[in-house]
Amino acid sequence: MTASPTAERPSLRSQRLNQITHAPHARLDALVKAHAPFENQANFARFVVAQYLFQSELVALYTDPELIELVPDLAERCRAEAARLDLADLETDVPAPVAGAVSHPSKAEALGWLFVSEGSKLGAAFLIKRAVGLGLSETFGARHLAEPAGGRAEGWKSFTRTLDALHLSADEEAAAEKGAIDAFVRFTVLLEQAYASAPELA
Ligand code: HEM
Repeated sequence: MTASPTAERPSLRSQRLNQITHAPHARLDALVKAHAPFENQANFARFVVAQYLFQSELVALYTDPELIELVPDLAERCRAEAARLDLADLETDVPAPVAGAVSHPSKAEALGWLFVSEGSKLGAAFLIKRAVGLGLSETFGARHLAEPAGGRAEGWKSFTRTLDALHLSADEEAAAEKGAIDAFVRFTVLLEQAYASAPELA
């Protein structure tokens, strides 16, 4: 994420979302790193717990027929199952749901959440390289960080192309932005919860 927080408001929706989430992304990036997820497999497993919780909360959005009408390959983009398999690889229990998941967001709000979930696949390119150092891979323990079929860049470009072409009212535009911010807040909550509930820290 390279947008400057002081830059003018960009004309493309995806760039505007990028801009308003710049600071939350930087904070989350620092928080992820503060938990040293690549120090050992146990630390990484807690990160996967957070990823699993986040992804599983978004299944209803990835499989929503109205959203699939807008983004035809949406269901295939979902990583909840990959994260669940990662947990099994890491011999980590599937966590209980955490109160406060997004529920029945408006279409525009849902798009903001999906923007964040899809965008997180870009950072995953860096994260998977570190996971390899723990003996993990796209087929074991770090499946949810795998490069999507067709490539990371292309997957992101096609998502943002679709997002940028949608006509939204001013209210919907604001709702999409709220969804994106809420998604970062939620991931932060889940990350803290995942590390707080680490078996070795209990
Ligand atoms: C739940 C949401 C997200 C999480 C947990 C997350 C996490 C991270 C982390 C930990 C890194 C650092 C990787 C490293 O330095 O080794 C990173 C980098 C990156 N992320 Fe995210 N991210 C999220 C959402 C997004 C979104 C929405 C976008 C784009 C719109 C994005 C784009 C990037 C890019 C391009 C990088 C590469 C380095 C940079 O330019 O800062 N991420 N992400």
